[in-house]
Amino acid sequence: MTTLYEPAYAKLNLTLDVLGKREDGYHDLKSVMQTISLRDDIEIDIETGKPWVLRCTNEAVPTDERNLAWKAAKVYLDAMNKDPNGLEIRITKRIPSEAGLGGGSADAAAVLRALNKYCGNPLSILALAELGAQVGSDVPFCTLCGTAMVEGRGERLRKLPNMPDCVFVVCKPDFSVSTPVLYNEIDSCAIAKRPDNTAMESALLAGDFGKVAENLLNVFDPIVTQKHLELNYIKSIFNSYGAVGYQMTGSGSAVFAIVPDFEFAAVICNMLRDNYPQVFIAKPV
Ligand code: C5P
Repeated sequence: MTTLYEPAYAKLNLTLDVLGKREDGYHDLKSVMQTISLRDDIEIDIETGKPWVLRCTNEAVPTDERNLAWKAAKVYLDAMNKDPNGLEIRITKRIPSEAGLGGGSADAAAVLRALNKYCGNPLSILALAELGAQVGSDVPFCTLCGTAMVEGRGERLRKLPNMPDCVFVVCKPDFSVSTPVLYNEIDSCAIAKRPDNTAMESALLAGDFGKVAENLLNVFDPIVTQKHLELNYIKSIFNSYGAVGYQMTGSGSAVFAIVPDFEFAAVICNMLRDNYPQVFIAKPV
């Protein structure tokens, strides 16, 4: 038996624009995404000689073929025509679920990378990301990691200059948002403000985190904030204690702030922790 280890990094949407609904029911989007050091840990035992098993430290997470990590293992092994002779996936969960942080996708992507390494890296990282699109829309980016422009349904990736050095504070409130419902809702909304992805790219190229912060924009943020005013409370704490920019990530409900250093991050965490136990400090990775 062999055991594989792989980190699974959460993602943030620095920008997120929804361009329109497609014939397959999904939406074309354009988003600058960033992986952060908030992570799950994946361990995979190969050749267990037993039926497949998935275990997760968070009991609310499904532990069967509905789990994206399980799906990713199946998609990879089917594509490579390999039989692992039994497999056990263990997930140490730290990324909050239903947060817009891509937790399930990150786990799936880590499984793809781990199995590909085990097989001697027959697939390039971009080919692996392409395979990830069969598992979920955020899986291709979570396979690549770093900073990237993400388009199409989530499968078209273009690497961007790395995010300049900064610190993120991520806060997950208690409520959750249904991603399909939100995508449906945006079809009947006039989007008042869209991100300037060209300005975001220039800010990244210049390594200017202040300009990155200025250009944060997620078209889902106003829709969710309008219904859940507590997001404004969290943002007001971010604003009062030195954040240079802040917004919701993905379809929510987590919100994040960009701050200059750990001292600012620690103060914000202290201010939020009593009401929001799920508050994290992270770096870009
Ligand atoms: O692909 P994934 O399972 O992550 O998507 C979850 C849901 O989000 C989809 O069922 C769809 O309703 C919505 N979605 C979309 N367009 C995208 C990504 C997700 O409509 N590009």
